[in-house]
Amino acid sequence: MSPFTIQNLARKLILAVVVGIIAMQLVSFFTHREPSSPPSDARFRNTSLPISERVSDLLSYMTLAEKIGQMALVEKNSLRKDQDIATYGLGGMLSGFGGKPENNTPLGWREMIRRFIDTSQTSRLGIPLLYGVDAIHGHSNVPGATIFPHFIALGATRDEKLVERVAAATSNEIMETGANWSYSPTYDMPEDIRWGRVYETFSDDPALVSTLGAAYIRGLQQRSTPTSTIKLLATPKHFIGAGSMVWGSSSNENFKIDQGTTPINEEKLATQYLPPFKDAIDAGAQSIMVGLNSWGNTKLAASEQLVTTELKDKLGFTGFTVSDWYGVYEIPGGDYAAAVTAINAGIDMVMLPFAYKEFIHNVTQAVENGEIEEARIDDAVRRILMAKFALGLFDTTISNPVDTLSSIGSEQHRALAREAVAKSQVLLKNNNNLLPISTTNTRIYVAGSAAHNIGIQSGAWTVEWQGVDGNWLPGATSILDGIRSVAPLGTVVEYTQDGNFSQTSAKADIGIAIVGESPYAEGWGDNDKPSLSAADLQTISNLQKSSKKIVVILVTGRPLFITDEMQSWDALIAAWLPGSEGAGVADTLFGILPYTGALPLPWPRTTAQLPIDSSGVTNDGTMPLFPRYYGL
Ligand code: BGC
Repeated sequence: MSPFTIQNLARKLILAVVVGIIAMQLVSFFTHREPSSPPSDARFRNTSLPISERVSDLLSYMTLAEKIGQMALVEKNSLRKDQDIATYGLGGMLSGFGGKPENNTPLGWREMIRRFIDTSQTSRLGIPLLYGVDAIHGHSNVPGATIFPHFIALGATRDEKLVERVAAATSNEIMETGANWSYSPTYDMPEDIRWGRVYETFSDDPALVSTLGAAYIRGLQQRSTPTSTIKLLATPKHFIGAGSMVWGSSSNENFKIDQGTTPINEEKLATQYLPPFKDAIDAGAQSIMVGLNSWGNTKLAASEQLVTTELKDKLGFTGFTVSDWYGVYEIPGGDYAAAVTAINAGIDMVMLPFAYKEFIHNVTQAVENGEIEEARIDDAVRRILMAKFALGLFDTTISNPVDTLSSIGSEQHRALAREAVAKSQVLLKNNNNLLPISTTNTRIYVAGSAAHNIGIQSGAWTVEWQGVDGNWLPGATSILDGIRSVAPLGTVVEYTQDGNFSQTSAKADIGIAIVGESPYAEGWGDNDKPSLSAADLQTISNLQKSSKKIVVILVTGRPLFITDEMQSWDALIAAWLPGSEGAGVADTLFGILPYTGALPLPWPRTTAQLPIDSSGVTNDGTMPLFPRYYGL
């Protein structure tokens, strides 16, 4: 080779290297450019501009990492240090149940949440944090809050106005502690009472779920500050088909049906599952939680068909989707692949809820590898920011304009809860019109595991995930205390828990057995035969020996199998899980308010009847013990 050719080759090589270096510099300039800082009068700070313009402006200042941070939802106990909220620009945090402050009082809650939100506002762009709680029957994380009856009881009232008032009161209690997001209401429709989440639902009737769900959303979200369009962010859950899972199909080895498989059924999807969510969107829902169940073989968070095509494209949902607890990582393939699949399927915010640094790292890599388009990230973050602006979060210097704690457990809210309890009581049997108890000078014996136990009557999701035991909730009233306070003058009320009363004293005119389920949450409540315990049955039988007539009050999250046992009872009431205001049960018992509640779902006779579809047809084609909407 001549020296001339060698020189030529060397020149070409040098040129190629130089061009390569310049190209790399250019790529790096565009992908890793220094973030631009917004001026103090940036358009996103201008309260007179439309929200969509403010969001676009804010997005234009955000780095890729800041955008991905907004998509992270972190459980408060997983936060390694407070400053991480600002460092990683986290979009949301939550108190999973048990995620309580050290000082577990309303004030302790407010101080904790404010600290988190205030920290978020010290980040480069000062984007405020969403702070979420499961306020599913009142602000029920917080000791001292009004504990409203669980959703199944609200379903029994069928009273849209009442449900809206309950939600508005709950909203006020949440706001006072500084949280701005509630994971409620529940849109699941249970077809199988063996599921541990039946009581979290309004009904198995899509029409009732639509009506009450929308009322609940309106109540929670009503506008408060001049620049907000909503006051608190509601979250209808769980999208979609939760309640129709097949017994035995759970993906969790500890559970039977919770987190199981909903069989693919396009007709049910169109006629039963989707319409309530359409109404939720029309009622103003701006975030929707995607469930932990599967649609056929696909985990919901991985289903682009359901999350993007059906929910966003066809129903026109412009808010953001949030995955349920660790749900994204239930998608097979490892953490990286799972995040890619879920985000591409249309999940906007990921309830991680643990490893946020890894999530931000993985998703950044996925964008750099071209496995997630940056446009998808922009779309997700736009949806999240739209909700934050709608809440008015950017327009208050402190996280919450409400500065008192006066509505938490207030007399007014407790009166409302008591009214809701009374209106949810369902009278199922009433021989010779024994109820209401209207005679004077009646001798009443009260007994049962749920008679004097506020923890039991409140059910789970009360202070602790799986509920609490005993009578220590501030300001609450047990059913027994309610009976004592409502019974007319001259009535004698005596109580023993096991129903053993002295055989030498006179028989009671009426024995009231208050029995039922101990608290459980989620799959821990999956139960192949929900029925009364041996101890409860013994209590009833003890009480029968010392009482002329027997009233059984079931404190329960779902129908129980009582087909044979109830034959010897004179009256039967489904009291559901009334919460902190036990006196509501007494109000109907003594006729202060009439029995107006009706069963929000059919009450089966046997397990062979399960599942029961939403038109009331049982699995074996026989009649249930009581049909939906039964109530005397
Ligand atoms: C439940 C959700 C709840 C979430 C956050 C999950 O286990 O399925 O309903 O909102 O936890 O606590």
